[in-house]
Amino acid sequence: MAREVRGPVRVRVPAKINLHLAVGARQPNGYHDLVTVFHAVDVYDELVISRAQRLSVRTSGPHDVPTGTKNLAGAAARALALRLGMKASVAIEIAKQIPVAGGMAGGSADAAAALVGCAALWGADLPRDALGEIAAALGSDVPFALSGGTAVGTGRGERLSPVLSRTPLHWVLALSDGQLSTPAVYAELDRLRQIGSPPRTGAVQAMLTALATGDPAMVAAEMSNDLQPAAFSLLPELRRTVRAGLDAGALGGIVSGSGPTVALLAADPASAAGIAAELAGSGTCRSVRIATGPVPGARVVGTG
Ligand code: C5P
Repeated sequence: MAREVRGPVRVRVPAKINLHLAVGARQPNGYHDLVTVFHAVDVYDELVISRAQRLSVRTSGPHDVPTGTKNLAGAAARALALRLGMKASVAIEIAKQIPVAGGMAGGSADAAAALVGCAALWGADLPRDALGEIAAALGSDVPFALSGGTAVGTGRGERLSPVLSRTPLHWVLALSDGQLSTPAVYAELDRLRQIGSPPRTGAVQAMLTALATGDPAMVAAEMSNDLQPAAFSLLPELRRTVRAGLDAGALGGIVSGSGPTVALLAADPASAAGIAAELAGSGTCRSVRIATGPVPGARVVGTG
């Protein structure tokens, strides 16, 4: 058993974007088979986890985040405690920077951070694989939030293999006024596929080759997302956001995951700053952020 710490434990966890997202057929369990390339960017939620009489979750920032045990971070603390045969007696405070219901896996990130933080607080000597299993049971994107970096995800997205991509990529994120629920976007994709044939992404290999070159223009040319037509169908104004980003000089633009955040790839940091400034004045999004990836997954950054 690793040594328990008195706490509180502080954990930082990044947001993700999907550079490639190919969605297969809906399976009997309700999930779709995926092949995706996850990419962690330096937009972070920070969790402070302290010993307490009973489990509680509080968030600062947006007000529309579930609190208490309805929050995925609370569910994560409970799941780990169950595995260790103990009570989840912790208070979790989440400082949110990752957009809520934005397609950047913010809720999954908080769950991954809660697993890492509680494991540190309780001195749980679990192999990373065991934490990964608990993560996969909590949600499709939670295992990637543990690992970070750039990785291919298969299955529901929970089976990961790392991708070597050392060259930093410079992003402009356009945050939307609207929110999109992940199940609603998948359901819309099923509907569009029933009535027609929305465009499908190609093979993942082209993106892996582009990442290996480190050339952002090649990466931009291979960015694709099968959920994008569904996100556009539910929030048509997102087309304008992508168009405005491309007009401002982005090499490529894509809806992130199930949206509505739009990720625009820039050639370099100076170009990212220029695109961000122009996009902020375009009236096509709520706010704009600059980000860089890849970055590591959920990490303890301080213990009391
Ligand atoms: O796994 P997670 O809880 O994040 O998924 C949320 C919802 O997104 C699922 O209930 C399902 O409707 C949809 N989903 C899917 N196929 C996936 C991942 C998610 O249909 N591979």
